Amino acid sequence: MNHAPNTRQRLLHLLSDNAIHSGRELAEALGLSRSAVWKSLQELEKLGLSVHAVRGRGYRMPHPVEMLEPDSLNQHLHPATRERISSLEIHPCLDSTNTYLMQRARNGTGSCGQVCLADSQGSGRGRMGRSWLSPPGANIYLSVLWHFEDHAYLTGLSLAVGVAVARALVASSLTEVNLKWPNDILWQDHKLGGILIEATGTAHGGCQVVIGLGINRYLPPQLAERIDQAWIDLHRIQGRDMPARNVLIARILNEMIPLLVSYPRQGLAAWLDEWKTLHHWKGREVVLLQGERHIRGILQDISDQGLLILRSPDGTLHEYGSGDVRLQRSA
Ligand code: BTN
Repeated sequence: MNHAPNTRQRLLHLLSDNAIHSGRELAEALGLSRSAVWKSLQELEKLGLSVHAVRGRGYRMPHPVEMLEPDSLNQHLHPATRERISSLEIHPCLDSTNTYLMQRARNGTGSCGQVCLADSQGSGRGRMGRSWLSPPGANIYLSVLWHFEDHAYLTGLSLAVGVAVARALVASSLTEVNLKWPNDILWQDHKLGGILIEATGTAHGGCQVVIGLGINRYLPPQLAERIDQAWIDLHRIQGRDMPARNVLIARILNEMIPLLVSYPRQGLAAWLDEWKTLHHWKGREVVLLQGERHIRGILQDISDQGLLILRSPDGTLHEYGSGDVRLQRSA
């Protein structure tokens, strides 16, 4: 486990109680000069976290912050989940948890069941080459490395993972969770999270898969302005009742790890019906974006293999395996 807490993380930790802390108190706690503290506060501001200066009294963080705590996380993991996790790493900051585990998969230093969490990501990645906004303190940036004996087992995996994540959110009292093909987690048409699955082959024909998940718990408004689609975070939906970060991560792993264990045996079939009940956009007029190609149609269903079925304007049905679905009015 990586505990190398840099100054910024330690400062964030001190401010995570949302109370006012004087510059002197922070400097003493961190063993730094007051100007060094001020510099670190500026760093947090640059990452989009506003720190309020309260005249004559000190500084306070006005929004929710919860540090990633291995003990708290472990406490909420089911024994069967813990058993299948080969290592659980928590990093203050990584470029991307997916990139980190993909590198390990490629250079042979990764292991099946390796879980990687970061408090923030410098170059978080989304699907289709997009970036994933990853400020510190509140959100979930999680990746899991898994080994499958056969590449074919990947069919529909991102859909099944979506169901697992939705279950964890529902268990956290979130209603109106929906899924958008292939791997967006929505709340009332707004994006709450996303899944990025990447794979690399092995010499024996099997594959190493990295399942990456980002969930918005709190996005600072000044940062979120950059997002080019309707978004939401748990804080805006549930306020103070939103699930604790460590608990939610444990709930997600408690769903995701058993899924990965059973997936080669059960495949998408075990998850498809539930996926369909969460399929919010069924029957809607959509456009499927595939690079330069924009395919219009009515979203009909999902095939047994997890392909998207669209009814085109001439009434014929077509299946698609990739792309980004948008509602026609917002396309
Ligand atoms: C998407 O909806 O486009 C997928 C977003 C996936 C984001 C997560 S955050 C953790 C992991 N690391 C990354 O760089 N990306 C995924």
